[in-house]
Amino acid sequence: MPDAADFAAAVRAGLVCAGRPSRPAYPGFFVSFEGTDGAGKGTQIELLVERLRGQGRDVVVNREPGGTFIGKQIRAILLDAANMHLQPAAELLLYFASRAQAVEEVILPALLAGKVVISDRFTDSTTVYQGAARGLGSEVVDVLDALSCQGLTPDLTILLDIDLDTSISRAVARNEVSGSTETRMDEESREFHAKVREGYLALAKVHPERIRVVNGNRDAASIAGDIASMFEAAMLEHDAGLRR
Ligand code: TYD
Repeated sequence: MPDAADFAAAVRAGLVCAGRPSRPAYPGFFVSFEGTDGAGKGTQIELLVERLRGQGRDVVVNREPGGTFIGKQIRAILLDAANMHLQPAAELLLYFASRAQAVEEVILPALLAGKVVISDRFTDSTTVYQGAARGLGSEVVDVLDALSCQGLTPDLTILLDIDLDTSISRAVARNEVSGSTETRMDEESREFHAKVREGYLALAKVHPERIRVVNGNRDAASIAGDIASMFEAAMLEHDAGLRR
């Protein structure tokens, strides 16, 4: 694989065209949830969806990887514990393959139709897991994002942050209870998961206007209350921007 920094330099020099499309205009609202494994995204997404649907909003939920029929097949390859020898570059491309399909099939059409889209993970996951923890670098992630996401970036990202021990023990417990074989990423070392958490917190500092860090080491109702307030504030800002 070419060195990611060299590739990014080539993009800057105009030798390679990254071709990032401009951000599409849409009346909908795009929220992503991020966090280490076991951070409680699933529970909080369910609570937010319930709340928004109760208010009469049209909500579409996407999951990464796996939000489409094709994405589910890609997810099976990515998370199967039998595939521990999956190469980092192949892993990176598969995560983006699933995302490219979801953007085209699910996310963009829903946003254009004015719906709220909630995505369980998006490109920030790849920046942190593959870019930082796997060491592939953020440049190559940015180039693939430009190719796969049609200029889409979440309007709001909720980063659920929990301590490393809780994250690892929850993920292990969840897999034991479900008997899941989707454990390839969970079986990574403690050091890998530490890099993921640090990567997320560093990314939140780079994008404070978009990424809101929520302390996930609390009861689900308190966390959900904070997320609801953040959602309402960001949505008001988004609507005001559309009216300008
Ligand atoms: P999943 O079972 O959905 O985990 P969780 O419930 O914690 O979200 O598995 C997704 C796994 O894939 C998780 O370990 C994070 C990892 N992942 C990446 O490494 N890169 C990515 O781009 C995405 C979307 C997920």
